[in-house]
Amino acid sequence: MGCGYSIKFYVMTLFPEVIKNFINYSILKRATEKKIIDINIFNIRDFSCDKNKCVDDYSFGGGAGMIIKAQPIYDCYLEIKNKINKKNPRVVYLTPQGKLFNQKYAKKLSNDQEIILLCGHYESIDERVIKKIVTNEISIGDYILTGGELAACVLIDSISRLIFGVLNKNISFEKESFENNLLEYAQYTRPRIFMDYSVPDVLISGNHNKINSWRLKDSFERTLIKRPDILKNKNDFFRGNIMNAILTRRSIRKYKNHDISEDQINLLLKAAMSAPSAMNSQNWEFIVIKNREHLIELSKLNPYSEMLSQAGAAIIVCGDLNKNLAKEFWIQNCSAATQNILLQANVIELGAVWIGICPFEDRMQKLSENLKLPENIKPLGIISIGIPDEFKPPSNNFDENKIHYEEFKNNK
Ligand code: ADE
Repeated sequence: MGCGYSIKFYVMTLFPEVIKNFINYSILKRATEKKIIDINIFNIRDFSCDKNKCVDDYSFGGGAGMIIKAQPIYDCYLEIKNKINKKNPRVVYLTPQGKLFNQKYAKKLSNDQEIILLCGHYESIDERVIKKIVTNEISIGDYILTGGELAACVLIDSISRLIFGVLNKNISFEKESFENNLLEYAQYTRPRIFMDYSVPDVLISGNHNKINSWRLKDSFERTLIKRPDILKNKNDFFRGNIMNAILTRRSIRKYKNHDISEDQINLLLKAAMSAPSAMNSQNWEFIVIKNREHLIELSKLNPYSEMLSQAGAAIIVCGDLNKNLAKEFWIQNCSAATQNILLQANVIELGAVWIGICPFEDRMQKLSENLKLPENIKPLGIISIGIPDEFKPPSNNFDENKIHYEEFKNNK
């Protein structure tokens, strides 16, 4: 390029100060001083032919709000185009009607040598100049700002930091949020223990393979919890991990004294409600218990339930017998939902175990009374959930003798 700059921004705006103030701070300031990026700001008003430097006018056809005239914008554009000396430069119009901006888009634009940014204000811009000069319309989110300046700053910032040399050290962009449609994993620094919260052991293990797989798993889980919408084409990831999730799931009955968050509960219930059910009847209901006294009460109600007194939460999986569709299969449906909860709990490093209630009439009766279940709602079982305070190695129960092809053969 000869000029030394990796990228040059040209901003057309009615409020140059907004952009100036923004770029005049640490990283962007340093990048402009180091001549890696160049940001040129043009006041559209300077290009008005009007003797009062007026840039706006009423909308033909009526309507509230003023419209920025085509002429000053076009003349401003011509001046920039002359400087760039390029036939068809990229001109981005910041508008809520544009394509939604994201990290992928920032990456694409970071390959440009120059970008012209057009900031709208008032009600709109005369459509003809948009048609004439704009190559891309970009929105930074589904909300309306008073003008395009903030959006232009967002573009400048996110594009600039992708340019080699702008950030202090060359970070690995592959590990950043949104790369590979995953959010970035959690990070910690000293001290190791802060207010009862300690850094996950694996991160101080020094084992980089383990650290990398922990980070990938953490990225995946937090994306699933916080931004499931960006998790696309992750089927391979799921497939690779499903056997892992199955084999490492063990019945965990000892828990640390720690709350289970609503996000975690919702994720478990999302897994539950994604289970297969006969005729897709989904005739299940879930009762979540978080109250400590209630958990203790339940721990005494039935045999094999002591662990509930230490649990962070319990989920009672129930079938609705009023739902006529496939109601004969409520036990199978609720069992599948139970298994999904147990697997998902394991994947997000919760410990869980199921406590059988159905088909024992006395247990069902006691629990139904405790939970004030109506006649038609039947409890299948209780799932006790907590932060694990015991470790069990993966199980491998595979037994060839239990497999029979075409007809039953006694393999024993
Ligand atoms: N101008 C006003 N609102 C905007 C938005 N959401 N994105 C980009 N430019 C805008």
